[in-house]
Amino acid sequence: TTEELQTLVLTTLDKENVITDSKSLELNDKPVDQLALLGALNSLKSKEMIEFTPIDRITWILTEEGKQLAKDGSHEARNKVGASAKPGQGKAFKNKWVSKKGANLVRLVDTIVDETQRDLKEIESTGTLGDAKVLADLKKRTLVDKQKTTTYSISKGPDFSLTVKKEATDITTEMLQSGEWKNATFKKYNFDAAGVPPNSGHLHPLMKVRQEFREIFFEMGFQEMPTNCFAESSFWNFDALFQPQQHPARDAHDTFFLKDPATSDRYPRDLMEKIKQTHENGGDTGSIGYNYNWKEEEAQKLILRTHTTAVSSFMLHKLSEETKKTGEFRPAKYFSIDRVFRNESVDATHLAEFHQIEGVIADKNLTLGDLIGFMDIFFKKMGMDKIRFKPTYNPYTEPSMEIFSYHEGLKSWVEIGNSGMFRPEMLLPLGLPSDVRVIAWGLGLERPTMVKYGISNIRDLLGHKVNIGMIKEYPICRLDKESKDKIEGVSE
Ligand code: PHE
Repeated sequence: TTEELQTLVLTTLDKENVITDSKSLELNDKPVDQLALLGALNSLKSKEMIEFTPIDRITWILTEEGKQLAKDGSHEARNKVGASAKPGQGKAFKNKWVSKKGANLVRLVDTIVDETQRDLKEIESTGTLGDAKVLADLKKRTLVDKQKTTTYSISKGPDFSLTVKKEATDITTEMLQSGEWKNATFKKYNFDAAGVPPNSGHLHPLMKVRQEFREIFFEMGFQEMPTNCFAESSFWNFDALFQPQQHPARDAHDTFFLKDPATSDRYPRDLMEKIKQTHENGGDTGSIGYNYNWKEEEAQKLILRTHTTAVSSFMLHKLSEETKKTGEFRPAKYFSIDRVFRNESVDATHLAEFHQIEGVIADKNLTLGDLIGFMDIFFKKMGMDKIRFKPTYNPYTEPSMEIFSYHEGLKSWVEIGNSGMFRPEMLLPLGLPSDVRVIAWGLGLERPTMVKYGISNIRDLLGHKVNIGMIKEYPICRLDKESKDKIEGVSE
């Protein structure tokens, strides 16, 4: 142990004043392990009880074969006479122990001195041999090898003593109260010690994938929408999206309603009036509307947003306000990637909250062809080469398309998102010029993240059962480079 080694060093120094080479130190009749000794020496040195310097030397050691030959004798000595091509036969000829007579080997001497065995034994006990040529020869025969060893020369330090003082590492409350700190010896700081690696933060896998997707949007010229408010009025989440007030999605079974505060009327009155008219009879959109009595109480209800399209409707209204102010429409590309909430029963693939990726493009005279073409480029950048569309229904888009991607692993088409062209019943009340078309799409962030990191249960990714170590260890997300390269040259 370290203590035994320290006692050995201290008592030896006490008797002999110096230890010229720690090679000579023995503990329980065995040479001490120099590596363990170094630990003991370092600790004594930090207390200034001793000083020491390393002695580096090259020693020769026997290989496994060398050890065996040192024990049993060399090949040439053992195979003095035998069949051809045995190890050591060449040596035996050279030493004139044997010669050839016809096809047979004949013995030339009665006794031999096995010099190889003798040399190996010497190397084994002394670590070297006087004759460098023989050493080199033995090395070539892979019977010996070089090894670097370090031993130490040790002398007394300024605080030499036979007992190792206990050193305090810290001042404690008890030491301060008892006054013991005055007499205590403190361990010296070791400024050369390697520091403890700092415990840094780690991005959740969802946030790693989000970052990669954000970069795709940025490189395509999109601006990020402010999605920092999870609570939203039904007005922006549903009514502004031409979603009728009795729509099943607005039911408590599907949506989380806030209790306190339960309502908000932070939306412009004139916009509300237009939206009311559009729902009731189409207003001046040319539509006949839904033909029901629109109620403001319903629009005021605060909810946890069910989709980020709530933010898109708000941003499109802002864009139309800007258009009115400047007198000129500015084409816009917006995106967001953030959390949404649905009052759903939780299972292996569904949580009550998840992340949506949303993209919106507003420009004059956009067509469904623009949406399809753009989706193709966008999903290729995400590493999805095969994309297919299927007509669907949304209250706020017409036409609407579900987006499917071919999953190579599952060998099937998987639904990944929803998209469409916002209806005039939504855009005209918001105040956008009548020739402005808006294409938009939404998809989940969880599914591509689970595919990327090979997670099959959503609860392993998000929620209270998540293993924090997983968050630390998962590498940053890099999307399939190959498919990114493939689309080079496609104009956007
Ligand atoms: N809001 C839709 C959803 O939650 C996605 C979507 C966005 C559809 C934009 C069309 C246009 O699934």
